[in-house]
Amino acid sequence: MIYIIGSGIAGLSAAIALRRAGYDVTVITKELHGGSSYVSKGGIAAATAIDDSPQMHAEDTLRVGDGLCDVEAVRYFTSEAPVIIEELIRMGFEFDKDLRLEGGHFRRRVHHKTDETGRVLTEFLLKEAVGLGVNIVEDELMALQIGDGVIRGFVTRERGLISNVDYLVLAMGGYAYLWQYTSNPSTNTGDGVAIALRAGAVVSDMEFVQFHPTITTLGGETMLLTETLRGEGARIVNELGERFAFNYHERGELAPRDVLSRAIYMELMNGHRVYMDLSDIEDFDRKFPGVSDFLGRHGLSNKDRVPIYPGAHFTIGGLRVNVRGETNIKGLYAIGEVADTGLHGANRLASNSLLEALVMGFNLPRYLSEPWDGPRLDDGLLVTIKLRDNGPLMSIDEVRRVNWEYVGILRSGEGLRKAVDLYERVNMAVSTKESNAALVSYLTAYAALLRTESRGTHYRVDYPGKDINWQKRIYFRVSP
Ligand code: SIN
Repeated sequence: MIYIIGSGIAGLSAAIALRRAGYDVTVITKELHGGSSYVSKGGIAAATAIDDSPQMHAEDTLRVGDGLCDVEAVRYFTSEAPVIIEELIRMGFEFDKDLRLEGGHFRRRVHHKTDETGRVLTEFLLKEAVGLGVNIVEDELMALQIGDGVIRGFVTRERGLISNVDYLVLAMGGYAYLWQYTSNPSTNTGDGVAIALRAGAVVSDMEFVQFHPTITTLGGETMLLTETLRGEGARIVNELGERFAFNYHERGELAPRDVLSRAIYMELMNGHRVYMDLSDIEDFDRKFPGVSDFLGRHGLSNKDRVPIYPGAHFTIGGLRVNVRGETNIKGLYAIGEVADTGLHGANRLASNSLLEALVMGFNLPRYLSEPWDGPRLDDGLLVTIKLRDNGPLMSIDEVRRVNWEYVGILRSGEGLRKAVDLYERVNMAVSTKESNAALVSYLTAYAALLRTESRGTHYRVDYPGKDINWQKRIYFRVSP
């Protein structure tokens, strides 16, 4: 039996592939329709157009990744991308015919299903997995059991200890819910990263949190306004109608999302209001039925300006793995957003995350019989931390407030120090949602404090430039 923790696109693709390869598979999920996959809007980046190539896709990924991409990972995922699209089509998934454009891409290469790719694809994969006999149960991972650097078992809330485990696949998503303003559902609080870290896994790139520039909340309902809207002609304006994004980047609304997030944040901080103007998009209701329904529910249409703000969207950091998903603990795999392959570097190219999740999931069985390789820790900075095992817990709301205020879009040494001090008073050794949230936030703040430069998604007002000495990763592990 192989156990997979998490039922998003990464977990379900692994379940399908492993089942097809003849394994018995159980997926354990905290919430079947929780997680980012289900609400993700854009699509899957893959160079399939005649004027495009995996090489060009790789170049866009590397440029946006700002010097910290793992080049081998970039080559692997961009060349596997067309194969995975082909596989989904072979399975019967019907993409829309047009390819869409998103920020940072120089070609139209986003494969999508209207503006609801994540929901439609998750439901498609779920049906396929159930049809193949994958067992899916609701429960929650609490701890891992490791012996001599090898996975032996794990503990769940309902089932207690499950032992004699040869392989465990973590597909538990990231932790971008832990910022007050976010596109993420409340399930994304970093449990996977925190639980595996406590058990001895190495994590990396925790300072790189991607903020999405265009989120809206109407009548208490939050929605990500997908970047593909801007690819189809949506404009970002302030209350005066000025397209201020061009003051920050020559590509204006199609600038990489870190630049645009900062631009919108600064505009809001300077007392302006910021809107998305959708009125130039032709055939809007057919192309974007999800956004159209959402606006309709709140008495608006694409002829109205929609108020927007930036918020946390994707956590680049996570459990350090190679492209196969192997962590430094033998038998323990991590795939999707919980993992960090180095594909995204310091900043993720739009629609590369569903791609990464699908490739890692579908390709997993081909590596199971090969000798364990584990991730390469290049000559970055490896920090060993000791976890405080007493003291109070911090509520999730408080964590979200601290992160937004001190570990947000614009960071400073002073603010980051405050966040680190606050987290160091908290009990981060117990396996609770609050403790997990504090632990991943602590590492994010700590890495951001150490990184005295600005690169990719990480922007320090006190170090606004890039520093070649920091062209390296920060790794963390806990002291045994
Ligand atoms: C979006 O549709 O803007 C989000 C896509 C992504 O995060 O890759």
